Amino acid sequence: MKREDFKILDNNLVYFDNGATTLKPKCVRDAIIKYYDQYSANAHRGDYKISAIVDNLYEKTREKVKNFIGAKETSEIVFTSGTTNGMNMIVFGFFKDYLKEGDEVLITLSEHASNIVPWFILQKEMGIKVKYIDLDDNHEVTVQNVRKAITDKTKVVSLAHVTNVIGDERPIKDIAKVCHENNILLVVDAAQSIAHKRINVQDWDIDFMAFSGHKMYGPTGIGVLYGKFDLLDKMKPSNYGGGMNAIFTKDGYVELREIPTRLEGGTPNIEGVIGLGEAISYIESIGIDKISEYEEELKKYLISKLSDLDFIEIYNKENKGNIVAFNIKGVFAQDTAVYLDKYNICVRAGNHCAKMIDNVFNISNTVRISLSFYNTKEEIDLLINVLKNSSNIWKEIL
Ligand code: ALA
Repeated sequence: MKREDFKILDNNLVYFDNGATTLKPKCVRDAIIKYYDQYSANAHRGDYKISAIVDNLYEKTREKVKNFIGAKETSEIVFTSGTTNGMNMIVFGFFKDYLKEGDEVLITLSEHASNIVPWFILQKEMGIKVKYIDLDDNHEVTVQNVRKAITDKTKVVSLAHVTNVIGDERPIKDIAKVCHENNILLVVDAAQSIAHKRINVQDWDIDFMAFSGHKMYGPTGIGVLYGKFDLLDKMKPSNYGGGMNAIFTKDGYVELREIPTRLEGGTPNIEGVIGLGEAISYIESIGIDKISEYEEELKKYLISKLSDLDFIEIYNKENKGNIVAFNIKGVFAQDTAVYLDKYNICVRAGNHCAKMIDNVFNISNTVRISLSFYNTKEEIDLLINVLKNSSNIWKEIL
């Protein structure tokens, strides 16, 4: 499926680390080069032709993002540098004012660091309480367990849509319903799902959401923060300066612009925005549902092949999605990754920025395969053969 769009794959690279970042198709690269070669002006600052082209491409991307995630208005879409930046803006730009001492935030032990550490900082700074929703036997979040964790002090539930450790998908629409019945706001980290699952923020009734461009075939350094208009309108900017103010006078009076401009102070990552717009068009040209279906089929194939190898331990056999977490029994995950790299197979090993994973699995490191639509069953067969020959792993990597 569309492998020819990814030049890097010409070199027999088997790229199974799409959870870390996806490869970039030629059209994204071309759009960025075109910006540099033909109209490399600033955005929203010039009164000449090439700057108008940039303004148009920049705002067109905002419109594409809005449609892609089913938002109501383009003003609800803020460009950021990535999911971490978006999550920090949500926590420090909004919840720092919204929450008060004693209020509770619900997360889980399998969240990514950017959905844990900012909350911990608020906990330390203002005395809120971070609590954990229990995971079920499959390490998944159930609506029932969300209900169980809610108290009259709960004000926020903040969850990854799909985790980066095992790829389990959370029932966000149902969780949103429970949250809103209890006057709780729902924050969603969509970093791992945005390129793999259809998301509709209005239909699912999500309050805030963040994701990255580079995990959806776009450039690094660009991301999106979504917020319902009335909530986002209350968010404090993290950058004060050019572009985001309407007027300021020598006596210290400052009037800020409307959202989203107010939240995008300074010259933005213009080529990132243009590349992201191209990446969204690219995903849409294939179809997000088709992508999900294909990746789930590939994952089933991978699980069935790995299950035939008795020296492999798989940690998430039952979870859907595009991620498989495993280890060669008795081999440190990083050693397995180094061994696979000898055969040009890229995987991620470690705790995957989710340092509380050992509370979930009782192990602190896994080998992670995160699939994309350009992966194939032939690549999986190659991986299996390489694993089958891993009895000499120590000799090969030392
Ligand atoms: N958070 C990214 C990952 O899971 C980098 O690999």
